[in-house]
Formats: sequence, C-alpha cells, structure tokens
Amino acid sequence: MKRPPSSALAPALALAAALTALGGAWVLACGVKALAGGAAQAVPSSAVSEADRVARGQRFYTQSCAHCHGETGDGQGEDGGADLRGLAASNARIANAITRGIKGEMPTFRKRYDPQEVSALVAYVRTFTAAAAP
Ligand code: HEC
Repeated sequence: MKRPPSSALAPALALAAALTALGGAWVLACGVKALAGGAAQAVPSSAVSEADRVARGQRFYTQSCAHCHGETGDGQGEDGGADLRGLAASNARIANAITRGIKGEMPTFRKRYDPQEVSALVAYVRTFTAAAAP
C-alpha cells in the first residue's frame, strides 16, 4: 500500500501550524503578564525597603543617639546633643558626623555601624527634618 496522497496530510499540517501559533500566542501572553506583574511590583517593593531602612535606623538611633539628641531629635537628650530637626547638612555630611564623630562633642561610630547601617541612620535622621518642615 502506498502512503495516502499529500492532500490527506494537509489538514494535519494545518492543525499543527494552528497549534504552534496558539502556543506561541500563549507564551507571548504569559511573557507580557510576567513583565506587567514585575513592573507593578517594582514601586511598592522599593517603597518598602526605604521604610525598612528608616525603621532600622530608628533602632540604631534609639540605642546610640537618643540619649544625646533626644528621642525626637530635638537635642534634649540627657547627655546634651544638637537639635537634628531641620538640619541643612547633606546626607554625606550627616554620615560623616556619624562615622567620624565630632571632636569633643560626639563619639565616632565607625566601629559600631557599617556603611549600610550608617545610611539607615541618615535616613532616620532625615525624618526629623521632614517632620519639622512647615
Ligand atoms: C555624647 C552625645 C552624642 C551622641 C551619643 C551622639 N551625638 Fe550627634 N552630636 C552631639 C553634639 C554635641 C553635636 C553638635 C556638635 C556641634 O554642633 O559642633 C552633634 C551633632 C550631630 C549632627 C550634626 C552634624 C552636622 O554636621 O551638623 C548629627 C547629624 C548627629 N550629631 C547625629 C548623631 C547620630 C545619628 C548619632 C547616633 C549614631 C549621634 N549623633 C550620637 C552629641 C552626640
């Protein structure tokens, strides 16, 4: 027996082609969905990490700074520190004061906090400025 004429194969080929096209469309749709999902998540996740940084900084601040600068950054801690509300200093300068200390005024925290922890402290100190802004 000979193979059936090619005309019998044509519907099968057409079906295969249709399935392939469908599959392609499905993969594409999933890809687009995945991309859209990723973009939708990008904003909240970075907002959370900033909030985390501030929360971390707050813990360090309570441990190391509040007894001088006051719980609210008003400078009314029992050991006497500067008012940190409405600070005009740049982030770099605040980080510098924390790592190097201020001679005769404020101890150095270089050994206690690594750069990431210092940046969390800076983020928290910044919230005093935001709170004090009119
Ligand atoms: C022993 C008390 C003391 C401790 C502890 C202390 N500070 Fe200070 N800090 C001071 C004093 C006093 C000044 C003001 C120095 C001046 O005006 O010359 C100051 C100044 C600062 C300034 C202003 C720097 C500038 O350039 O204007 C920042 C910011 C600051 N402290 C942050 C912190 C942070 C954050 C911590 C905790 C990691 C901390 N301080 C711990 C006493 C302290």
